[in-house]
Amino acid sequence: MVNLGVDLCGYRLKNPLVLASGVLGTGPELLARVAEAGAGAVTTKSCSLAPRRGHPNPTVLEWGHGLINAVGLANPGAEAMARIIAEAKKLLAPLKTPIIASIFGSTIEEFARTAHIISSASPDFIEVNISCPNVEEEFGRPFAADPEAAAKVTRAVKAVTSIPVIVKLSPNVTDIAEVACAVEEAGADAICAINTVAGMLIDVYAGRPILANRTGGLSGPAIKPIALRCVYEITQNVKIPVIGTGGVTTGKDALEMIMAGATAVGVGSAVYYRGLQAFNLIQEELADLMQKLGYRSIEEVRGIAHRS
Ligand SMILES: Cc1cc2nc3c(=O)[nH]c(=O)nc-3n(C[C@H](O)[C@H](O)[C@H](O)COP(=O)(O)O)c2cc1C
Repeated sequence: MVNLGVDLCGYRLKNPLVLASGVLGTGPELLARVAEAGAGAVTTKSCSLAPRRGHPNPTVLEWGHGLINAVGLANPGAEAMARIIAEAKKLLAPLKTPIIASIFGSTIEEFARTAHIISSASPDFIEVNISCPNVEEEFGRPFAADPEAAAKVTRAVKAVTSIPVIVKLSPNVTDIAEVACAVEEAGADAICAINTVAGMLIDVYAGRPILANRTGGLSGPAIKPIALRCVYEITQNVKIPVIGTGGVTTGKDALEMIMAGATAVGVGSAVYYRGLQAFNLIQEELADLMQKLGYRSIEEVRGIAHRS
């Protein structure tokens, strides 16, 4: 029998699969459905201090090798999200599925105020999204682009909450390990890597970018090698756990992520490709593959790609 349980900052997840932020994490019932579908933990859509409408359509598109999106961080604001989390916690309690609340802000102070409001709903973790590539025109360079700025946000959030803090990094940087080290030193309890990869698609008939926002974030199968490389480089340099996210669609993808050093595995776009059952399917495939390869626990496999 293969044991898929993993420890994430003292929480025992029944399996390593974590619903990634922005994908179905908008309401309590939806979060509960994902937990019922077998996720080991669920992440809410990122929320900000004030509500945001996001970008006009089109905002999400499948393009053959993955998705591109520029939703623009549409969310109901921190107060409303705190109510959603409190409600979701009740629904998730019988399933023992932890909830990760994702937050973002345009200033360090906004991150801290949002974290403070969200903490009142007692999520199991707070994920700090310093990496969204779709709102740069409004917010300037993402905090994840600069190790010092990333560390400052981490410190500010840690100062207002006792809930474990996961910092979500961007692949759109020269040296992701440097940013990872900076947030670890600033007190981050875990890292989530990666957010989407900045990209663009062009409509040749109209002669213009397809997304209303022009640029967006790539996710899904196309970005798996980028995510694996990032997780590998990060886990070579930090001791805190990493939620390896990006392009995981099958059990084999999840195993690659764990072999690269991930403690848990984010699943986002796979829900588009395989539906809600993605969580159960990936788990079954992961367990089968581990069994075939002679592994009995995730701990046994974690990071083995570093040994070669
Ligand atoms: C439609 C959509 C919306 C997303 N919204 C968020 C978000 O609000 N906050 C965030 O941190 N990441 C967001 N992401 C990024 C995902 O959480 C994840 O990091 C990325 O999609 C890579 O994983 P995947 O290839 O499994 O989808 C979004 C992704 C998609 C596809």
